[in-house]
Amino acid sequence: MATLVDIRNLTIAYGSAPPVLADFSVTLAERSLTCIVGRSGVGKTSLLRVIAGLAPPRSGAVVMAGADGPVAAADAVHGCRPLALVFQQPRLLPWRRVIDNVMFGLEGVLGHDDRLRRAQSVLTQVGLADHAGRWPHQLSRGQCQRVNLARALAVRPRVMLLDEPFSALDTVTRQGLQADVLRLWRETGTAVLLVTQDIEEAVLLAERVLVLGGRPARVIRNFPVTLPYPRQRESHRFATQVKTLRDTLAELVADGEGI
Ligand SMILES: Nc1ncnc2c1ncn2[C@@H]1O[C@H](COP(=O)(O)OP(=O)(O)O)[C@@H](O)[C@H]1O
Ligand SMILES: [Mg+2]
Repeated sequence: MATLVDIRNLTIAYGSAPPVLADFSVTLAERSLTCIVGRSGVGKTSLLRVIAGLAPPRSGAVVMAGADGPVAAADAVHGCRPLALVFQQPRLLPWRRVIDNVMFGLEGVLGHDDRLRRAQSVLTQVGLADHAGRWPHQLSRGQCQRVNLARALAVRPRVMLLDEPFSALDTVTRQGLQADVLRLWRETGTAVLLVTQDIEEAVLLAERVLVLGGRPARVIRNFPVTLPYPRQRESHRFATQVKTLRDTLAELVADGEGI
């Protein structure tokens, strides 16, 4: 697959502290699903924020294929943005109904009627068409996170960045949302970069798992997951891949790789 996002020699640092990432390079292919794992504080969120254009790198660049402007810029002609970011906390606007929360991200991208249509269609995609008129406080956490996904999908991104999107959810809800992400990934053709602390989640979803470690952080393992989709958690092959990745992480810790 062709390269979609080319992350070139990024150095990310805060103030005078040593860099969080230094000379960090990774490419994401079109329609790929990549997971990033790594210890808390290693720099995963910092990396996603820089890719999303929310923070500048100290040096290096994030280049999106076919785009000559900033990666987060709106494309009013096609009613889309190249990139959408989903945080762990849904961050819905409490004073806007669900539909208006989804439409909000399309302001400046589409006119009102198109925004409404697009918002209805993505709420249907995440199974919340009949919750469009509700207020955020009337939703469960899982439903809020679905709205959050809908809001990201609404801009028809070429890549979605998800930062530990399910870590605050109970197991059953989390599993439902994992299935949603897989389905939406395949339906929409967007590339996905998902940060998770959950090895099983990474093996369930990813085509490739990047393990970040060290200081400054780098990719210390590039772990392809070769199982076909949909993956069966109960299967022997699934358990074997989870164990292999766990063992790899344990070895890296034992070798002092600082994960
Ligand atoms: N706004 C900030 N100002 C200063 N230091 C920060 C800021 N955000 C993150 N850091 C530091 O950068 C490092 C990486 O943080 P972060 O990217 O949040 O890691 P992760 O998401 O992997 O847990 C940590 O040491 C953290 O304390
Ligand atoms: Mg983080």
